Amino acid sequence: MNIEEGQVAVVTGAASGIGLALSRALGRLGVIVVMADVEAGTLIAAAKTLDGEGIRTRPVVTDVSSWPSVQHLAEVVTMEVGPVDLLCNNAGVVGPWAPTWEQDLANWRWVLGVNLDGVVHGLRAFLPRMVARGAGQVVNVASRGGVTPLPGNAVYAASKHAVVGLTESLREELGRIGSAVGVTLVLPGLVATNISESDRNRPKGLRVAAPPASDGWRPSRGSPSIDANAVARSILEAVQNDLPVIAPAADVMGTPAGGAR
Ligand SMILES: NC(=O)c1ccc[n+]([C@@H]2O[C@H](COP(=O)([O-])OP(=O)(O)OC[C@H]3O[C@@H](n4cnc5c(N)ncnc54)[C@H](O)[C@@H]3O)[C@@H](O)[C@H]2O)c1
Repeated sequence: MNIEEGQVAVVTGAASGIGLALSRALGRLGVIVVMADVEAGTLIAAAKTLDGEGIRTRPVVTDVSSWPSVQHLAEVVTMEVGPVDLLCNNAGVVGPWAPTWEQDLANWRWVLGVNLDGVVHGLRAFLPRMVARGAGQVVNVASRGGVTPLPGNAVYAASKHAVVGLTESLREELGRIGSAVGVTLVLPGLVATNISESDRNRPKGLRVAAPPASDGWRPSRGSPSIDANAVARSILEAVQNDLPVIAPAADVMGTPAGGAR
């Protein structure tokens, strides 16, 4: 898909990290960016910063794990912004590091709710109209952990493997009907963002105590990582060239602390 001035992008998880970098990169090309995020204060501040840089934004506080919330997002986009050219399902969280047998059910609910249901909701809300128009591009941000085992975080790995299967299937479905809507799957390695602070957005009802083995399974804090802006640049390039899969920083993965693996 050619990225052009005046197009509309919806970016979930747009207040921080990869989503914020992507919003800025798209905005600099003249795209109107609907910034959706659950963290209201950070979202409004981020949108203001981008507005100050001359970027056209429309922040909408959205919890991607909630269908009514994503429906509301879609209503705002339809009423106030216009047809969506680019849908970026990027919002994601990671919970505590611990072996599967110690992972709390509440943690499964939260991580699958955001990382998987969030993508499902985004597609359900926006894709039918994109298919009807026969134009646009979907970008689903999974993870390198969506194609490899992730000992210590099977919860995250399961959520991202599901996004990979969903995205690959969707691309084939669109191909079968001869649709021009493109699909790009993003499989980043370690990126310097706020993802390790994901608990800041955990709903009260899904709080969990840190599992006792957590520390032995967490990637070491000194692990190398790449810059979110570099990932955003790779995503734009992939969209422009309709690449099916990209793996920015695929060779950059955390080394587990304490020899837990
Ligand atoms: N940082 C990495 O190393 C890395 C590696 C591979 C994949 N990813 C993926 O990249 C994506 C972006 O994460 P990031 O690294 O930029 O982290 P980040 O924490 O910096 O940004 C994630 C954003 O998602 C938002 N968010 C969380 N829950 C939400 C919800 N329920 N509804 C809407 N928004 C919500 C957060 O408020 C935050 O602004 C995620 O899907 C993540 O799994 C990150």
